[in-house]
Formats: sequence, structure tokens, C-alpha cells
Amino acid sequence: MSVPQRLPAPASQPEIVRELRAFTWNGRPTTRAVTSVGLAKARPIVVETFVNEFWTSRQRDAHSLHEVSYRACFKPQLPRFFIDRFTAPGDVVYDPFMGRGTTVIEAALAGRTPAGCDINPLSRMLAQPRLAPPPAEDVERRLAALDLSLAVSYPRELEVFYHPETLREICALREYLLARDRSGSIDGVDRWIRMVAVNRLTGHSPGFFSVYTLPPNQATSVDAQARINARRKQSPPRRDVRRLIAAKTRSLLADCDTATRATLLRSANRATLMTRPARSTPELKAGSVSLVVTSPPFLDVVNYAADNWLRGWFCGIDTSEVEISMHRKVADWQAAMTSVFRELARVLRRGGHVAFEVGEVRGGKVKLEEAVLPCGAASGLEPLLVVINAQQFTKTANCWGVRNNSKGTNTNRIVVFRKP
Ligand SMILES: C[S@@+](CC[C@H](N)C(=O)[O-])C[C@H]1O[C@@H](n2cnc3c(N)ncnc32)[C@H](O)[C@@H]1O
Repeated sequence: MSVPQRLPAPASQPEIVRELRAFTWNGRPTTRAVTSVGLAKARPIVVETFVNEFWTSRQRDAHSLHEVSYRACFKPQLPRFFIDRFTAPGDVVYDPFMGRGTTVIEAALAGRTPAGCDINPLSRMLAQPRLAPPPAEDVERRLAALDLSLAVSYPRELEVFYHPETLREICALREYLLARDRSGSIDGVDRWIRMVAVNRLTGHSPGFFSVYTLPPNQATSVDAQARINARRKQSPPRRDVRRLIAAKTRSLLADCDTATRATLLRSANRATLMTRPARSTPELKAGSVSLVVTSPPFLDVVNYAADNWLRGWFCGIDTSEVEISMHRKVADWQAAMTSVFRELARVLRRGGHVAFEVGEVRGGKVKLEEAVLPCGAASGLEPLLVVINAQQFTKTANCWGVRNNSKGTNTNRIVVFRKP
């Protein structure tokens, strides 16, 4: 990024560029710069870059349905910013690296048609139930009807996380859900219970099934948990699995009034959720998507398979069998992203946009926004601009080591492309 050089005349720019230039936050004007990438055999790519606090991450601004944790998820305010500016109700909004489903849920809440893809089956299990949330009473009735006193399997090593009676309940619930899935009788209430249970497996407060451990989206290993227990002189307390699922259900549904449910229902009926590599998505028709908002794995910064091993166990997924993208070298990452961009260029309609969120990695030495610009351009997309949302640290971000943190700010760096 460098200081502004030749900037195009405002009148020839899309509306969003004029808006970003004029934006102020708490009286602070937008900082404008230029991101430029030299290419071996072509003209350099030069795009205007805007830095400000364009959206804030105050939790209360987001809908309660989003409150499930996932490693390296973005805040719902990020997709919302682009959904509001680039789409109209009914338009298809797509996330090829869906994670917990932040983009698809926010798209559905905004009355857009959600589409999502993730290579890990866990992602769909987290997103789909929240597109069609059941009433809390139905969940509680189902929970009350379950017999959680008996389990066929009992992985004793998990006693580092759970009180034996809690573990028995978790195993019984897991076996019930796997059996329902196998027999094809699993329904929306079961899927909701599975999604909430996954989110209660481990955490750091009495709201989780486990004894104090790492944040809920980063299950630590059995050996590491044994060391945490020894250091903290703790042993797992008894937790009531049913009660915790019911309580979390109520809190997730807190903002789900009748109008929200009606909007979600319309969107859910049209949703496309896929479990496959993002480079090949035949379910999506050419030219059908208006907007892509996504955040890919940042090189090898997060090990999604290792982080999700316990969630995978609960859901019957062998995460070591899932080919989650992890690239050490920038060139390998660029090759993988270029193949995804080719597919995005196919599914986008003319005039459609991609908002591709990346971060600074390797302590700021690698700027992925610069790495990603040639990937989109090579796929026939027009690089439009870079938006950098810079926020003050939150307490949570500090103590949980949220990515992109440097010198007291937490940034989202989004490269925006348009299909000509
Ligand atoms: C940074 S996370 C996305 C988080 C998401 N924005 C959210 O808010 O939850 C990246 C996701 O990409 C998925 N992933 C990794 N390789 C993939 C691939 N080749 N195709 C599709 N998804 C992939 C991972 O499983 C992970 O869920």
C-alpha cells in the first residue's frame, strides 16, 4: 500500500467508491491509499484502497442467530456491508468458504437467497439449522423425550474434558443423532440440537459441557487438556447436557420474531448449501450469483482439522479425511485461489461482485490482499478496490489471539472485484 498516486475522476467511479471516499467515523475521514501489484508480463494492477472503521463489531448489533463460534469467522457486519450495497432482495449471495455460515445467515436475514460451500461437512451442520430455526418449545420437547442415560461407546480418554455422567449423556446424544442420520429420519429439530451441542462441547464457562478449556472453537488435545487440568488443579464438574442445550437455544432464538422467521423461511427454501471443494460447484448455475462474500483459509495460519477434531468426533466426521486447504507458500495458495476465482467468475452474473476477505500473515510480511489481486484478475474479474476495516482491539480479541492483530488494531482487508 502506498500514498495516493493518480486517482480516477470521482464521476467515473461506482457509487461505493464515492461513498467510501466521503465516509467519516467519529469525525475521522477515510484514509485513502493505493494498492499496487507488479506483474511479470502485464501492466501492474493498481486499485484505490480505503481505511476506516466502516463497520463495528459490537455484538449487540448482530442478530442472535449468529452466536455460534467458529475459528477465524468474520463478524456479520462484514457481509452485511456488501449485501446492502451490491444486492437487492431475492438476489443470490454466495460464500464458497462458508465456515459457520456467517454470510449465508446474514444473506437470509436480509431476504437474499443464500448459497454456501465448505469442504468440511461440519460447516453445513452449523449453518443449515439456523436458516430454518425450530421453535424453542419443540427443541425442549425433543430433549425431554430422549433417554441419555445409556451409551454403547464411552471414550474414557475424554474424561479429561467431561465428568463421567456428562460424558455418558454426550455419548448417548451422539449415538441418537448418528442413528437418526443413518436411518434418514433426522429432522430439523435433531439438526438444531446437533448444531447447539457442537457449540457446547468445550469452552471456558459453566455454559459448556466441559471443564475450563480453550475457547469453544479450538478444541485442545487430550494430553494438552490433562496439562491444563493439572496446572489449574481442576477436574470436570457435572453438567446437564439437556439444560445447557435448551439455554443456548433460547439465547440463539432471542431475536427470532415472527417477521424474522417468515423472511428466513422464504430464503431457506431457496438456499443451496454444498459440501465440496470450492473450485467446483456444479450445483450453481452460470451467471446466477450477484455477490460473493468470503474469507478463505489464510495460507496455513489455522489448522481447521485439528481445531475441529472433537466437533468432528461428535458429528461422525473424520476431519483427517477432509482435504482442507493449507498452503505454506504464497504461490501454492495463489494457485488454489485462482482455481476458486475461475469458478466464481463462472457463477457470477455480469456486473456481480466478489468481496474477498484476507489478512496480513507472517507478522505483516505477507499482505494477502496483494497476493489475491492477480488471482481474481487472471480469472477475468476486474479488480475494483480494497476496503480495510480497522477497529480498536476488543478485550476478547486480545485474550483469544484473533488474527490480524497488530499495534492495537484489528483489521479486515477486503479485495473487491466486479465481473465485467
Ligand atoms: C476463514 S474460514 C471461513 C469462516 C467464515 N467466513 C465464517 O464466518 O465462519 C475458511 C473455511 O474454508 C474451508 N475450506 C478450506 N479449504 C476449502 C476448500 N478447498 N473448499 C471449500 N472450503 C474450504 C474451511 O473448512 C473453513 O471453514
